Amino acid sequence: MIHYKTAEEIELLRASNQLVSKTLAEVAKRISPGVTTLELDQVAEEFIRDHAAVPGFLGYKGYPKTLCTSVNQQVVHGIPSGYVLKEGDIVSVDCGVLFQGYYGDSAYTFTVGEVADRVKQLLKTTRASLYKGIENAREGKRVGDIGNAIQEYCEREKFSVVREMVGHGIGKSLHESPEVPNYGRKGHGPRLQEGMVICIEPMINMGRKDITQDADGWTIQTADRLPSAHFEHCVAITKNGAELLSTFEYIEAVHNVTI
Ligand code: MF3
Ligand code: CO
Repeated sequence: MIHYKTAEEIELLRASNQLVSKTLAEVAKRISPGVTTLELDQVAEEFIRDHAAVPGFLGYKGYPKTLCTSVNQQVVHGIPSGYVLKEGDIVSVDCGVLFQGYYGDSAYTFTVGEVADRVKQLLKTTRASLYKGIENAREGKRVGDIGNAIQEYCEREKFSVVREMVGHGIGKSLHESPEVPNYGRKGHGPRLQEGMVICIEPMINMGRKDITQDADGWTIQTADRLPSAHFEHCVAITKNGAELLSTFEYIEAVHNVTI
């Protein structure tokens, strides 16, 4: 069942997502060679609690941390640890909060120092594909139009789209209907209607689309162990098209957009 949101609920979802965006910017300030993903997690948790909110992922189906930090060939759901970031790494940082009863959820893939040209291209393409998807998130369109736009854009650059993990509706729960795949057929899937709030989150691989799951029950990696990128925005479907509830503005004010 899809929960359609009132204007008041959309404002609460905006507040939650703005807090996520500001949290990601706090994390962005700390990204550099030598920092551990656990330190990033601690920065995020403290910032969220200082703003009268709680981490949205912590405890979700037993997830043990505030952030998901997925390095290089890790696609999503990497668990913060003592891993020390090094020059040339990329790290997807996915953050969720629960604030005033509503969830926020957004993700950004950061570069650590200088990264290889093809990796930059992967990040640039994945980020741009997210906005291609968002352009299609409007009334009259269907969920398949979003996925189709993302897939066409990424495959044109010879990257591949992860199939098993998808975007989602969001509200009083972190994951609501509908599922929002990053692949699909134009004109197929649920209709997009005013009041829907969805997270669009392309997970795009440099090599093949196949993934594996680690024994920790969470970490998803590419089967070929080539790098993967992940960007996520939360958007509301309004009369005037998609309205971003999260933003990369705060992040990109402090993190070099080398891409
Ligand atoms: N953005 C991710 C998702 O929507 C984060 C979930 S992590 C989890 O699936 F720990 F909460 F599962
Ligand atoms: Co999400």
